Amino acid sequence: MFNIILFGPPGSGKGTQSERLISKYGFKHLSTGDLLRSEIAKQTPLGIEAKNFMDKGHLVPDEVVIGMISSALDNHPDAKGFLFDGFPRTEAQSQALDKLLKLKNTQIGVVLALDVTEEELVKRLLNRGLTSGRSDDTNEEIIRNRIVEYHKKTSAVADYYKQFDKVVYVKGEGSVDEIFDALCSEIDQRLS
Ligand code: AP5
Ligand code: MG
Repeated sequence: MFNIILFGPPGSGKGTQSERLISKYGFKHLSTGDLLRSEIAKQTPLGIEAKNFMDKGHLVPDEVVIGMISSALDNHPDAKGFLFDGFPRTEAQSQALDKLLKLKNTQIGVVLALDVTEEELVKRLLNRGLTSGRSDDTNEEIIRNRIVEYHKKTSAVADYYKQFDKVVYVKGEGSVDEIFDALCSEIDQRLS
């Protein structure tokens, strides 16, 4: 089993590249953002709680997302590998994930970190907001809040995995194909 964290700030292309990676390698895609949006659409208590945080561009509490990931891992016992997108987002989530994977006798193989400038992130998200219907894409203030949360809490995730020498930075600007090729090359080196 080979597990990957696709890491990067909001708008860095995690969702776009995840779609391609799962179809090439057959990983099970676990995006906490997508899981939360699906809870919101179904108006579950978890979704209603999470929406208050997401609409402001703030992170949802650790225990909520860790619980969601724990059930998702249990629901896919036959997965040949997981691709984590948008998770972990705090050091506490990183530690919890390592514990959950250890219980399944597996671990994170690599953290692929997409590097994109802040101005490009804001431009992409404002542009996506024109059509996405995502409430956290609608104005620049909320988008900037998401980026502030990233610097305050999420960049620590890269530091956490650096101690195990697992982080590889990949340029996240350029064409979607170029970035995909760079990600595949990093994965292939580790799979072989
Ligand atoms: P989440 O859904 O994870 O969103 P995000 O991290 O803010 O990032 P996005 O999904 O907006 O961007 P992305 O990196 O996937 O880029 P994409 O491929 O879409 O989280 C949303 C919220 O949920 C959080 O704010 C938080 O409240 C909550 N949450 C989720 N997980 C949580 C957790 N673990 N803990 C606590 N709270 C959590 O691309 C963006 C745009 O750019 C698209 O329009 C795309 O077409 C375009 N694009 C992609 N690649 C390129 C390229 N190479 N060139 C030009 N444009 C490109
Ligand atoms: Mg995404």
